[in-house]
Amino acid sequence: MGLLEGRVAIVTGGASGIGRAIAGAFAAEGARIFIVDVNAEGIAGVIADHGHNTADGCEADVRDEAAVRRAVERCVRRFGRLDIAVNNAGTGAFSPVHEMPLEEWQRVLDVNLTGVFLCLKHEAAQMIRQGDGGAIVNIASLNARQPAEGMAAYCAAKAGVAMLTEVAALELGRHGIRVNAIGPGLVRTPMTEPLRAVPGVEAAYLAETPLGFVGEPSDVAALALWMVSPAARWLTGQTIYLDGGASLRKYPPLFDLFAHSQATSE
Ligand SMILES: NC(=O)c1ccc[n+]([C@@H]2O[C@H](COP(=O)([O-])OP(=O)(O)OC[C@H]3O[C@@H](n4cnc5c(N)ncnc54)[C@H](O)[C@@H]3O)[C@@H](O)[C@H]2O)c1
Repeated sequence: MGLLEGRVAIVTGGASGIGRAIAGAFAAEGARIFIVDVNAEGIAGVIADHGHNTADGCEADVRDEAAVRRAVERCVRRFGRLDIAVNNAGTGAFSPVHEMPLEEWQRVLDVNLTGVFLCLKHEAAQMIRQGDGGAIVNIASLNARQPAEGMAAYCAAKAGVAMLTEVAALELGRHGIRVNAIGPGLVRTPMTEPLRAVPGVEAAYLAETPLGFVGEPSDVAALALWMVSPAARWLTGQTIYLDGGASLRKYPPLFDLFAHSQATSE
């Protein structure tokens, strides 16, 4: 019998990258998975991978509270309940803080922080109605604790996710709901492709990573699976940095690396 037999899990941003790997790991342990994402094609791909009895989903933008509420309701109509949620949908941006357009700051904060809040709010409300606990995992980042040049909005949003995780754990413990976060370092996904394509960035990042390799989505999925499993029943309010040790050192100097790559391509 799988670790998550009989459980129902929502994974936001589950159509790609880390979220898709997490959804797959949960399904492999017997959970039914419900994907909430803006990428309809990706959702269809996950359903095709796992079959209609195990997987479903709906297109929803995590910034839209009505859409998030409907997504949770749809999951419960489809699979009967909600036991686990992974708030993983996220986006990035790169610009110096003194030049960052307000719209860019707002977009990143809206998706990466307010989106996590809205999902957590409606997921937790459903779990409280059911009355038998639950487990929520928010996907933060190494950048919740380590600053990176050009990434003010992203870093601020992810630091917010780590603190939101603590407050939610404090409040929801009385309902038997555990809330934790994962702070991944550099992981090989479509989101980081443009960053990793800049010459020198991956090498500079690895030079600051004691274990010396980039993570895979399956590494994050393995930790998420443990966090929502009964084995982690005493864990709540924690952000675990899963980064090959990168948080022990410093983030690569992105301004210098980008300027150097521009100069050499001219
Ligand atoms: N890849 C990394 O190195 C890394 C490191 C640390 C943290 N993270 C975090 O992990 C999470 C997943 O990132 P990934 O690397 O797998 O990226 P990804 O681009 O492969 O996947 C992100 C998914 O989120 C969805 N999404 C984006 N905006 C959305 C919105 N407004 N509403 C609903 N869905 C939306 C996308 O459609 C996509 O399916 C993000 O929160 C990211 O910040 C990634």
